[in-house]
Amino acid sequence: MPLLPLAQLCLPPSATLHETLARLDATAQGIVLVTDAQGRLLRTVTDGDLRRAALAGTPPTAPLSALPMPHAPHTVSLQASQRDVLALMDAQRIDHVPVVDAAGRAVDLVTRRELSQRVYLSSPHLGDEEVALVQEAFSSNWIAPLGPHVDAFERELAASVGVQHAAATSSGTAALHLGLRLLGVGPGDVVLCSSLTFVASANPIKQLGATPVFIDSEPQSWNMSPQALAAALAALQAEGIRPKAAVVVNLYGQSAEMDAILPLLEQYGVPMLEDAAESLGASYNGRASGSFGRLAVFSFNGNKIITTSGGGMLVGNDAALIEHARKLSTQAREPARHYEHVEDGYNYRLSNVLAGIGRGQLRVLEQRVQSRRAVFAQYRDALGTVPGLRWMAEPDGHHSTRWLSAFVLEGGDAQTRRDALLDFLERHNVEARPVWKPMHLQPLYAGCRYFAHTTDQDVSRALFEGGICLPSGSNMSAAQRARVCELVARGLGVATRSAA
Ligand SMILES: Cc1ncc(COP(=O)(O)O)c(C=O)c1O
Repeated sequence: MPLLPLAQLCLPPSATLHETLARLDATAQGIVLVTDAQGRLLRTVTDGDLRRAALAGTPPTAPLSALPMPHAPHTVSLQASQRDVLALMDAQRIDHVPVVDAAGRAVDLVTRRELSQRVYLSSPHLGDEEVALVQEAFSSNWIAPLGPHVDAFERELAASVGVQHAAATSSGTAALHLGLRLLGVGPGDVVLCSSLTFVASANPIKQLGATPVFIDSEPQSWNMSPQALAAALAALQAEGIRPKAAVVVNLYGQSAEMDAILPLLEQYGVPMLEDAAESLGASYNGRASGSFGRLAVFSFNGNKIITTSGGGMLVGNDAALIEHARKLSTQAREPARHYEHVEDGYNYRLSNVLAGIGRGQLRVLEQRVQSRRAVFAQYRDALGTVPGLRWMAEPDGHHSTRWLSAFVLEGGDAQTRRDALLDFLERHNVEARPVWKPMHLQPLYAGCRYFAHTTDQDVSRALFEGGICLPSGSNMSAAQRARVCELVARGLGVATRSAA
């Protein structure tokens, strides 16, 4: 059922019952909103009201104002949550709830049908192949950690990224922790890190006793600003500090500007740990994302483009480093008959069952990329002309997976409008999220150094304040995608009004 612009559901009190019936027929929502000249909601009229009026002998030429009104309309305010709306529907046994603003104007309508069909941000998308591979793990009794699926998953993922070696881990965070340790990061070290990211990119730095220095984004790709990175490297060098590593994040399915970033890091002798948790399947100048760093990390958690329910991978071309990662991730056991330990180790390996899921998922990666790109294209086509809305760009040389379709609201009151739009979408049972809150704004990292894109331009802060990620799953139906487009269009009008 397509969503309609709210105006099509509104009629003045002078409309006749006949006109109202025709409107109910045309809009097929089961309700019209009766509003005055200022748009204030006077009452609602349903099929049932018209039926009762006909039975009472009211002529079809009578105006709506002639209908009896047993009670004021049941409405919610712009602050109401989805739960409030549902509670009202249940209490009043109604299926539609108009939303009114502070002046009593009808600004939105929520229907019970929407509340029974949630649209998720990025839900797992699995198929028969995964089931067959997991079945194989069961049949062969390879349930315990490690086994043939793990070995094969590592080989197949390395081949798909174009790197020599890979070690499967229990999560992307575990892979980041291992990667930093293998690059020698320890207490007292400084590690550069993209600020606009999920907290897992930065936490292992702190957990190893090192200090993160955060780098801003650049406005186009939203990834690490080479300009800010250059400023940080120069400033630290002037203080006699050589960062031990740089965690460069590829955001929302898109690589960072590696042609600018890599030479800078090489110039200062800083190895890159590429956080490609969100960018499996993307490429930059024809090279796969995750193939640029000395080491790189992928995540297969439940919301990623492919998932093993939970899991990660550390990849690279240095066989010794990856072999060492395998050792550290299995409690760092030495090659002896008994249990001999020299190094500090972890229990970070992926299980053979989950690796089976991963192998199946890897086979459909390209299809998943195409589906997510199609979701983004549909959003951009439907909403591309909305003023003040800027999509995350895909600059020349980039092939993004559009893991998450993201845009930023620009101009004054961006954060208020962002929050109003998120509230609006949630009220309609659509899961959207703010763009990551940058690390330099997190209380956890208060006091850490930060290098902005320019002295007067904090790009990642602006992306956070106005940025929204829309539902982007590869398993979204055409109807769900259309519903999100229509809701965003309607919600932006509501958001603008509530910010005013
Ligand atoms: C940029 C980034 N880095 C690291 C991670 C951590 O991955 P995981 O959840 O598999 O530990 C995630 C996602 O969760 C992420 O988005």
